[in-house]
Amino acid sequence: MKTKITELFGIQHPIIQGGMHYVGFAELAAAVSNAGGLGIITGLTQGTPEKLANEIARCREMTDKPFGVNITFLPTVNSPDYAGLMQVIIDGGVTVVETAGNNPAKWLPMLKDAGIKVIHKCTAVRHALKAQSIGCDAVSVDGFECGGHPGEDDIPNFILLPRAADELEIPFVASGGMADARSLVGALAMGAEGINMGTRFIATQEAPVHENVKAAIVGASELDTRLVMRPLRNTERVLTNPAVERLLEKEKALGADLKFEDIIEEVAGVYPRIMTNGDMDAGAWSCGMVAGLINDIPTVKDLIDEIMSEADSIINQRLTGLY
Ligand SMILES: Cc1cc2nc3c(=O)[nH]c(=O)nc-3n(C[C@H](O)[C@H](O)[C@H](O)COP(=O)(O)O)c2cc1C
Repeated sequence: MKTKITELFGIQHPIIQGGMHYVGFAELAAAVSNAGGLGIITGLTQGTPEKLANEIARCREMTDKPFGVNITFLPTVNSPDYAGLMQVIIDGGVTVVETAGNNPAKWLPMLKDAGIKVIHKCTAVRHALKAQSIGCDAVSVDGFECGGHPGEDDIPNFILLPRAADELEIPFVASGGMADARSLVGALAMGAEGINMGTRFIATQEAPVHENVKAAIVGASELDTRLVMRPLRNTERVLTNPAVERLLEKEKALGADLKFEDIIEEVAGVYPRIMTNGDMDAGAWSCGMVAGLINDIPTVKDLIDEIMSEADSIINQRLTGLY
């Protein structure tokens, strides 16, 4: 399939693996890129420029296809060395950067000078337009369904995607709730040029996370996610567990007085304990409503091949057959 996104990034299929903290290591990024999609290493998980440079080099050993690096600008406990991270991305010959969170304008000149394509992830049409106006090459439009940070507007993709299509000139991919060929064809119908998946890619053979995480996603239904940190205007969609329910009780009890320190135990530093050690009750971890559509743990290649071949059947048999 050829779309503006496959052309822009030089990939075979219009499927991107979004950056994911403690999931987006070289193993997953390379598997997605080798299967014809765009794999993305999560920059902040590496933490330092030296470690990110190593991870980029490791990924390069595993694939000769294009891959990207995600750089997230979100409130974090210790501010990362963003300038150093950007420099190793450039030095490492990475061709795509996925930015997320705050406005990436400060970093665009150096990335563009290096010939790097920038796709910015946003949860609102106004932010997508801003990304377009500052020179981003594409945007990833993240609906309310998404795992991670859906923003504060709560607009689901059936509204957000056509709104984005009506307003944007640069290409965009649909993100949040994407799992299969139905998602891809639906997203294309709404004007997107491809899809970005997070949660679906965690439940794959190659995702370098503990088996408990994959089992939790397969076992979860679409009813099992919760929104946390809304009172801090840093809303995150996570899979429920006892720590999340405890966190929500604190939010209810403290109301507008809630501070980050009150919930630090449930959110700070929990990713390695969950993703690496499989300690599933350690705290809050991002997961999309799409968990309700995930019932298996395929290889990345089987997942992507199936999406592409079923998309062909939906378009050329089911839809064409309606006429
Ligand atoms: C476990 C997990 C960690 C994530 N970490 C990040 C991150 O560090 N930076 C980022 O921009 N997005 C992050 N995301 C969001 C994904 O890149 C993607 O936008 C989102 O998962 C799409 O929604 P879906 O899960 O319904 O596919 C994360 C998502 C998950 C599930």
